[in-house]
Amino acid sequence: MAYDLIIAGGTIATASDIFSCDIGIRDGVIVALGHDLGAASETIDAAGKLVLPGGIDSHVHIAQPSGEGIVMADDFASGTLSAAFGGNTTVMPFCVQEKGVSLRETVKAYHGLADGRCHVDVAFHLVISDPTEQVLGQDLPALIEDGYTSFKVFMTYDGLALNDRQMLEVMSVARETGALVMVHAENYDAIRFLTDRLERGGQIAPKFHGTSRPIPVEREATHRAISLAELVDVPVMIVHVSNREAMEEIARARSRGLKVYGETCPQYLVLTEADMDGLNMEGAKYVCSPPPRDYASQQACWEGLENGIFSVFSSDHCPFRYDDPAGKLTPKGKTSFRWVPNGIPGVETRLPILFSEGVGKGRITLNQFVALSSTNHAKTYGLTRKGSIAIGMDADIAIWDPQREVTISQSLMHHGADYTPYEGIKVKGWPATTILRGRIVVRDGQAAGAPMQGLYIARERSALAAPAGQLPTPFEPAGRYR
Ligand code: URP
Ligand code: ZN
Ligand code: ZN
Repeated sequence: MAYDLIIAGGTIATASDIFSCDIGIRDGVIVALGHDLGAASETIDAAGKLVLPGGIDSHVHIAQPSGEGIVMADDFASGTLSAAFGGNTTVMPFCVQEKGVSLRETVKAYHGLADGRCHVDVAFHLVISDPTEQVLGQDLPALIEDGYTSFKVFMTYDGLALNDRQMLEVMSVARETGALVMVHAENYDAIRFLTDRLERGGQIAPKFHGTSRPIPVEREATHRAISLAELVDVPVMIVHVSNREAMEEIARARSRGLKVYGETCPQYLVLTEADMDGLNMEGAKYVCSPPPRDYASQQACWEGLENGIFSVFSSDHCPFRYDDPAGKLTPKGKTSFRWVPNGIPGVETRLPILFSEGVGKGRITLNQFVALSSTNHAKTYGLTRKGSIAIGMDADIAIWDPQREVTISQSLMHHGADYTPYEGIKVKGWPATTILRGRIVVRDGQAAGAPMQGLYIARERSALAAPAGQLPTPFEPAGRYR
């Protein structure tokens, strides 16, 4: 047979083009685009469907230790299965360093959890919480060289927050090595001050999570992160941006020629702070950081997707069970919003929400959808064989039914959480079939029953962090998958 698989008759969209042809796939790679391609072991009829690059979700949390007595709801099997059902073929979780633990040990532990248990491909970011001399001088540069070419730093959270000096130290390593720095921008001291004051006033319900982290907390930290990055001349990605004022910081930096990039997420498009004001503890289902804001902030985030302030749209999937003291219903005695684990599930619903609310309602084009959901993630994070439909690329493809109408519901989800924060939202357009390196993982909305074939991918440097004038590597060298 000339091909292992042909996808025939669909409408293909990339970040730049929309066209109709058949796709020939051999050994996991796209080897032909054309008509009448000939024989294949299997042919999928994609007439009436959209054939898109598989989604890349460059911001997910899977199997992370999340504090005493708290358990994240997804392991790598359930998190990546949920991703596949949401039209994704690559996810990028974090290897989170705990204070006192070496970065190498951290990475090894996450591989121990992930390797051989993934339904889609996985590439890891690092999180630096303890920038010792060993980390800065040895481990971090070596891991970046090995393909962990981006890392996240936190400006808040107990046990994770870096001070400004530490931020400058890790950013300097990124400057020297070509890594991309992702920043969680919220002011730690301001949040602690506001939280203490709210608790003293008896204001402990989940809705006060939002009050403890108002927009200036995010705006100030965004401004400071950008200023620190400017001092050491390094590109930064400000992740999970929730509002216009933080966006304006990014826009102003760009207008001064700085390489500052932005990410937003579904929770900032379709949820608001009112969702955290449910009966009893119901509001805990929506507690994430930064918190969802108001309708005007939603509109601002849409504008940011349309005009390029945001180059990537990620889920920030960070699942906890609701009806569970190891999840959102915090352990006995810890009744304040302070103890509610931050984060919500969303890897399976990210793309249908963006497609339906964005493309379906005329806010973004289909090409922008592909860029925001896949192509820009690949370029930003050095996934050089992914994010497009072109000869030589991995055959990572999602076949969408653009007409299918779905009411999002927990009963449809494959994640380990016991709820979805997007329950009841009506969408039009749904991923039907997900293909990972030429192998069908989800077929017509059903698990294809294939063994877990997701691989770990060592990445190239970000195209955004490459020194001016340096051409990006067109394809990964052999042996970067395992
Ligand atoms: O609330 C959130 N976003 N939890 C996940 C951790 C993070 O900050 O991304
Ligand atoms: Zn964060
Ligand atoms: Zn996150």
